[in-house]
Amino acid sequence: MKLNGLTIGVPKEIMKGERRVAATPDTVAKMVKEGAKVLVEAGAGAGAYFLDEDYSGHGAQIVNDVCDLYSKADIILKVKEPQYNHEKDRHEVNMMRKGQCIVTFLHPASPGNHDMVRQLAKNDIVSLTLDGVPRISRAQAMDALTSMSTVAGYKSVLLAANRLPKFIPMIGTAIGMIQPSNVMVIGTGVAGLQAIATAKRLGAVVHAVDIRPDACEQAKSVGAKVVETGVPAEVAIGKGGYAQHLSEDWLKKEREVLKGIVPKMDIIILSALVPGKIAPVLITEEMVKSMKIGSVIMDIAIDQGGNCAVTQAGEVTEKYGVTLDGTKNIPGMLPTSSTWMFANNIYNFLCNLVQDGKITINTEDQIIASSLVTYKGEIVHAGAREAMRI
Ligand code: NAI
Repeated sequence: MKLNGLTIGVPKEIMKGERRVAATPDTVAKMVKEGAKVLVEAGAGAGAYFLDEDYSGHGAQIVNDVCDLYSKADIILKVKEPQYNHEKDRHEVNMMRKGQCIVTFLHPASPGNHDMVRQLAKNDIVSLTLDGVPRISRAQAMDALTSMSTVAGYKSVLLAANRLPKFIPMIGTAIGMIQPSNVMVIGTGVAGLQAIATAKRLGAVVHAVDIRPDACEQAKSVGAKVVETGVPAEVAIGKGGYAQHLSEDWLKKEREVLKGIVPKMDIIILSALVPGKIAPVLITEEMVKSMKIGSVIMDIAIDQGGNCAVTQAGEVTEKYGVTLDGTKNIPGMLPTSSTWMFANNIYNFLCNLVQDGKITINTEDQIIASSLVTYKGEIVHAGAREAMRI
């Protein structure tokens, strides 16, 4: 029994609009079967349609007071980084005690989270971030970022389809044939591939752009027409096979290629990203101006600054007759599926972290080492240290 004697706490998420939760009744049952005691805050799963009675039916104890949950748990499982709990008039970090452990998305390099990360270190809390899980095969079942990108790719096409003032598929009518819409997906990683597959299922003609030849191959295999950017593979591919951040000269060349095709598109899904960098700007204001009125841009790379020069984070705006959607936290809009994926990812992460009922910070393990943010009172995460100039 891997988790024997461990007390696991699953609080309700307190960020506005966040409907996901870190455990499902099924993952609770798995944790209990492995010997853990699981405390779930009352109402924690309601936003994702998992009810208290389902959790308790699968072996959880429902706790009404979140402070009680924090004080009893050895480890806290969450979706979002700790924040201020206005109802309790206390920051979630300050509900935790020395040596306690938390696993969640911390995004520790993001400037808005630096104070919170410092406080985690000061309170001597062991924190691990799921956005640090490396994309290696052993970690696939723990990779919550990939899961959330899958959700975002799918949902972004549905959001765009709803905003588009016309049909997506070809439709035969008594008065003639309605032509299918053109969708372009820029950046065909995890999110982009799912966007292509979804747009194909809706009947769109799908065009795909990526600078990595492998990503182009995969886009082709799910039915997209690949637009060649002219960026040579040795320029495009960097360490570990990931894309490189292109120089301004290469970005200019890529934009020139895109300029020719953008005016023909009805929907553009933007999901181009180089890990750890600001997203490249690939769609300029001029290009937006060149689009047909009524067309839609979904900029899902918005958390990293966005791929379109004029989308606004967290806002849906209109410019030159084009809808510009910078919606954040798209996975939160599909809470049941994203919770199901997230809860299983975090459960698998937990099983790798705990040995014989003990949380074991084995820094020889690449998954643990790259996810560890604060340990023994120090900030140890390389990206956070770089961003905080430590
Ligand atoms: P990924 O790393 O799997 O894919 C990014 C792709 O962009 C790669 O295939 C890369 O080759 C490509 N790329 C990089 N530079 C490019 C360029 N100059 N031109 C064309 N392609 C380029 O990343 P993933 O997981 O698919 O995520 C994509 C974006 O979606 C990220 O910005 C991520 O934060 C975002 N996302 C947004 C969510 C939301 O709620 N808005 C939720 C989940 C993910």
